[in-house]
Amino acid sequence: MSSTLIQGGTVVSASGTLDADVLVQGEKITAVLPREPNVAISATADRVIDATGRYLLPGGIDVHTHMEMPFGGTSSADTFETGTRAAAWGGTTTIIDFAVQAKGTSLLATLDKWHAKADGNCAIDYGFHMIMSDVNDTTLKEMDACVAAGVNSFKMFMAYPGVFYVTDGEILLAMQQAARLGATICMHAENGIAIDQLVAQAIAAGRTDPVNHGLTRPPELEGEATARAITLAKITSCPLYLVHLSARHALEAVAEARDTGQNVFAETCPQYLYLSLDDLARPDFEGAKFVCSPPLRPKEHQDSLWRGLRSNDLSVVSTDHCPFCFKDQKQLGRGDFAKIPNGIPGVEHRMDLLHAGVAAGQLTLSRWVEVTSTTPARMFGLYPRKGVIAAGSDADIVIYDPRARQTLSAATHHMNVDYSAYEGVEITGRVATTLSRGRVVIDDGAYQGDPGHGVFLPRGVNQYLL
Ligand code: URP
Ligand code: ZN
Ligand code: ZN
Repeated sequence: MSSTLIQGGTVVSASGTLDADVLVQGEKITAVLPREPNVAISATADRVIDATGRYLLPGGIDVHTHMEMPFGGTSSADTFETGTRAAAWGGTTTIIDFAVQAKGTSLLATLDKWHAKADGNCAIDYGFHMIMSDVNDTTLKEMDACVAAGVNSFKMFMAYPGVFYVTDGEILLAMQQAARLGATICMHAENGIAIDQLVAQAIAAGRTDPVNHGLTRPPELEGEATARAITLAKITSCPLYLVHLSARHALEAVAEARDTGQNVFAETCPQYLYLSLDDLARPDFEGAKFVCSPPLRPKEHQDSLWRGLRSNDLSVVSTDHCPFCFKDQKQLGRGDFAKIPNGIPGVEHRMDLLHAGVAAGQLTLSRWVEVTSTTPARMFGLYPRKGVIAAGSDADIVIYDPRARQTLSAATHHMNVDYSAYEGVEITGRVATTLSRGRVVIDDGAYQGDPGHGVFLPRGVNQYLL
């Protein structure tokens, strides 16, 4: 079993910072050795990595990605191989991706299909949530087997009628079952029935540009759906996790539920913290690059979201990474914004964009680590294997240079997509080295991983349940 000593760095955790050396043996961290003045550390190892002046972070955990996901007649552009490689470049060492149940198919067959896509192809570890689009006696029973197979979170959609949409009655049934199983329902909360009417009116009136994607999905309809999901979760005693929360209205509903002690949690994504409706309004169809659902909001929502991250009404930042190429895929919606595949690439940039939030005074260093790694691990049953630098945990460690400068660009990113939503944005901070279960995957600007390294992570129960 080979050993590695990471020397000279500052360990950043959800509770503070510590100048310490970290010893890794095989796939695990075996010791965190605080440095004290005039006390020499006597550990030896096969390999020594100098991390002087750098942070040691628990590997990032992105709990919301869509690799090779079928959507709108096409498929998201990153495979598990390219997407997990890009994640590692950006300091993410675990993803939780969504297996997508197509209507009329079984949950277990869906899970097998997603295992076949990911198995042997991932550079980092991965788990799955299950998207339930067909609720019936069989699929409700199959939720049991999913939980037993390590998939204990189920995403449902109040949006996309005719595709993933489920009725309130179906949500209620799935929530009752999830509550029995100790599983979490992840909700895409937008009132899709009302939105579809607004979309049809816009198209009929010739308002077909990408900005209309945002204008036909008003924040009030995210707020309304969020409050409705919270009510259904309350009467079924079901843990609820709101995915990709984008609007102040939705955040207010989450905060109120949390104040009354309900098991309600929420994530937001970097695109809602940094991008806005103005980007959707870019001319010459450029706005299509920014089409995702819920849509980018007017800028004034951003302050509420940053505040929500500080107050813990927003507990997690994920990416909702769902890349579609501008040239071949986003073009499907030229002349009809409703046909633009929904999704923005981002798996590579989450840690850096949130570090920019630290540099701007929006988050503390510890909160950065908490919302990108430690809380995701606890929320989705991976802690303490993941989400912390401690003896016994997996050696998923990111050595981060807080002073390095970089400019985000499609010319240099590693995601399999032909544009960057953050083209030209300058960031202070960059990953120097990424270790996944003790294995160096990224070092000094070079990829050293291999697609068979990542393993499936069966997950346990949400550790925040009251
Ligand atoms: O626009 C988005 N968010 N695409 C991915 C599917 C989803 O709803 O998460
Ligand atoms: Zn969604
Ligand atoms: Zn998503």
